[in-house]
Amino acid sequence: MFARSTYTETCRFFGDQTPRELADAYGTPLYVYNESILRQRCRDLMGLSAHPGFGVNYSVKANANPALLSIIREEGLVVDAMSPGELHLDALAGFPPEKILYISNNNSAEELAHAAENSLLVSVDSLSQLETFGRIKAGGKVMARLNPGIGAGHHAKVITAGKATKFGISPDSLEELFALTDKYDLTLAGINQHIGSLFMTPDGYLNAASVLLTLAEKLPEARFGNLEIIDFGGGFGIPYHKYDGEPRLGLAELGAALHGLISAWADKTGYRGRFLVEPGRYVVAECGIALGRVHAVKNNGQTHYVGTDLGFNVLMRPVLYDSFHDVEIYRAKGEQVDPKPMAQTIVGNICESGDILAKERLLPVMREGDVLGVLDAGAYCFSMASNYNQRFKPAEALIAADGSARLIRRRETLEDLTRCLL
Ligand code: LLP
Repeated sequence: MFARSTYTETCRFFGDQTPRELADAYGTPLYVYNESILRQRCRDLMGLSAHPGFGVNYSVKANANPALLSIIREEGLVVDAMSPGELHLDALAGFPPEKILYISNNNSAEELAHAAENSLLVSVDSLSQLETFGRIKAGGKVMARLNPGIGAGHHAKVITAGKATKFGISPDSLEELFALTDKYDLTLAGINQHIGSLFMTPDGYLNAASVLLTLAEKLPEARFGNLEIIDFGGGFGIPYHKYDGEPRLGLAELGAALHGLISAWADKTGYRGRFLVEPGRYVVAECGIALGRVHAVKNNGQTHYVGTDLGFNVLMRPVLYDSFHDVEIYRAKGEQVDPKPMAQTIVGNICESGDILAKERLLPVMREGDVLGVLDAGAYCFSMASNYNQRFKPAEALIAADGSARLIRRRETLEDLTRCLL
């Protein structure tokens, strides 16, 4: 029997294949994505509000594989891009310029010019970037990222508003901002914010949204009339503790409140533009699982180590943020499973002692040859993978809605490692 696989079996995550078949066919480490779950998450978010101006702006940094981006496009979302690379992949997935917002920070003039040449609406993150953009696109439109002074997030490294962060323009600087837009004859066509990543209760997000609306409302009438986009940012959390039954973010409650807020505000102010939310993780995290293999087990002191090919070059969230990802264990049918769980520390194959995927987890005893599945690995996992220790970036496979599997990215090879060498 399988050792620990209830979650994926219940949702038929791997379609017509078993995870071991996928690992055998495509090798490990392997990211596997499920199309139906991805579509469902897109629909959850698109359903947050029925306001005609409401839309969902997927933050591509979470996962930029064009096969996934195409599905997201089909579901009616627009995308943000924050680098020429993301812009390239958005375009490859069929997003036209009017469905891409360039929401970035600390860009070179060349990068801003590239976004402007591609007819994108660009959001600037500082007065200094506004000045640079003005020189590039005098007479054009621009958006500004405001810092509402409220931050939130699962780790200090992902709180992106408030005084202690590098992000956004303080609302106290609006006069200077307008002096610059006037100097370059720019129209402020949108305002956006992003307070941080991973909230599990709606209050902070809704408060920050109200703050942004209040700011918008205070703009002089002529400037208010130019606003086409108000983007509240992302941060929508997902339950990473699947096996502990962690509750989901109350999207119905959040949606009802957000819908009420924007509808009443639009009625009151006469605003006819768009309202966007900008999630990354919520869209893609749960549709992805990283498959790896156990290659060695050993005891060192009090710790029982399980050595895998899932190093932090493949999946770095636990190392960078102490993040928790649930783990499943897949064993060939008929192979015995010791029913008594044991505390085990799952590590990778990178030459650093911090290369720990999961610490002291009480799990069925793992052994060489087991295939592991790291749950909720669709967001900020492949997109943060690296070639550290000159290991290859993993392959990615997609389980289509009909249950079939196909590769959507091949594993790297030695040639890929040397491609840029001169
Ligand atoms: N908008 C902007 C401007 C952002 O910087 C981000 C994420 C998002 C939207 C989407 O945030 P989300 O809905 O995914 O929380 N690597 C970290 C997360 C970093 C988020 C960076 N910015 C992690 O693995 O938890």
